[in-house]
Amino acid sequence: MKTIIEPFRIKSVEPIRMTTFAEREQCIRDAYYNLFTLQSNDVLIDLLTDSGTSSMSARQWGALMEGDESYAGSPSFYRFKEAVDNLMPFKYLIPTHQGRAAESILFTVVAGATHSIPNNTHFDTTRANVEAQGADAVDLVIEEGKHPELEHPFKGNMDVAALERFIEERGVENIPLCMLTITNNSGGGQPVSMQNIRQTKEVCDRHGIPLFIDACRFAENAWFIKLREPGFQDTPVIDIVHEMFSYADGCTMSAKKDGLANIGGWLAMNNEDWAVECRNRLILTEGFSTYGGLSGRDLAAIAVGLEEVVEEDYLRYRIASTEYVARHISAAGVPIMKPAGGHAVYIDARQMLPHIPPLQYPGQSLAVELYKQGGIRGCEIGTAMFGLQPDEKEEPAHMDLVRLAIPRRMYTQAHMDYVIEVATEVYENRENLRGMRFIRQPPALRHFTGRFDYVEN
Ligand code: F0G
Repeated sequence: MKTIIEPFRIKSVEPIRMTTFAEREQCIRDAYYNLFTLQSNDVLIDLLTDSGTSSMSARQWGALMEGDESYAGSPSFYRFKEAVDNLMPFKYLIPTHQGRAAESILFTVVAGATHSIPNNTHFDTTRANVEAQGADAVDLVIEEGKHPELEHPFKGNMDVAALERFIEERGVENIPLCMLTITNNSGGGQPVSMQNIRQTKEVCDRHGIPLFIDACRFAENAWFIKLREPGFQDTPVIDIVHEMFSYADGCTMSAKKDGLANIGGWLAMNNEDWAVECRNRLILTEGFSTYGGLSGRDLAAIAVGLEEVVEEDYLRYRIASTEYVARHISAAGVPIMKPAGGHAVYIDARQMLPHIPPLQYPGQSLAVELYKQGGIRGCEIGTAMFGLQPDEKEEPAHMDLVRLAIPRRMYTQAHMDYVIEVATEVYENRENLRGMRFIRQPPALRHFTGRFDYVEN
């Protein structure tokens, strides 16, 4: 059979509140045209993020009941540790309440004002946590990764030659570690090849710099390696995962993505000195080292999620459902980042709306329109998110994208058909969309709480 079906059936459902165009127009105006400010009850299809939004399985709900809430040494921690070690064995494992807490602890311990952290592309919280230490977050993704229309199987790859040059110019003493984000979220949900992970590790090893993986979507990345990288077609996903992490000296992780959980994360590493300092920091900010800000039941749910996320039927459905949306909206003419990312479809708002200059946030305008027309909530990933520089000047981001992130195991194909229909309609009316401006913005992560309005004509 050619049809790939959802490898699950639904046992418990949540209603979606239907809304009219007029209601949504009012809601988004009241939210100052910031989709993060909307109440989610006013959203029909919520594609704001794939983070923490997964449907849990019956096995995960069962594991929640078995969660042990002991303050120290809970069996739920050891169940969690075993599940993590089965995939990515590092010597020290530090649970945190989510990914950015792991980033904050790591960079507080390893980074300082004279430092730079190279990455293929920093996610926004990673960048903010690096910069919070006064360090410099440097993105070195391959050139193909910056051009949405270009097809390339591994657009998330690190430009290893640029990395080599950067290390030589900046000096190893100023680079405490190098990161690789898999899949590369801000760059379009694009995967990193095994060969590139290996080569990045070789460059790091030559200079004695540890390599850390931002592992949020490790299973999706592994599936892309199986699909697209010669030599891996017959390799079990679990073996691909093992090889990927065999090149790393540590990782940060948000269990809200490929942990199939609603909360959680961790920091792992082999360096004992750093681990001791990170644990001390953890105890100060998150909690004791066997729960790190999580309840025992969360740790138990993550442990089961980590077993389920590497099941090949699940990954086949997961990547096929993202590709389905991408293929259909692309066929309707909507310019998208190609090929489809793992967890999301990225619409190229800069190309779709050439009449809106980047400093008038074409991505924000498009995201607002998708909400108004169809109650779909996506997320701008472009100049509103990244345009503000540390010196407070504003520059266009590399790209102006709107991300439609697909929660795991949550929506059916009919929901996705609706998304395709709405996106097509907005595309057909694209000439009527207008640019936007900030009417209030905080100095960091301004896209979360800033207020927008349309520019005056
Ligand atoms: N790294 C990457 C690549 C991410 O995508 C995220 C979160 C984080 C780190 C931080 O993890 O949210 O658990 O603190 N990404 C979410 C998103 C928010 O919508 O893409 P967190």
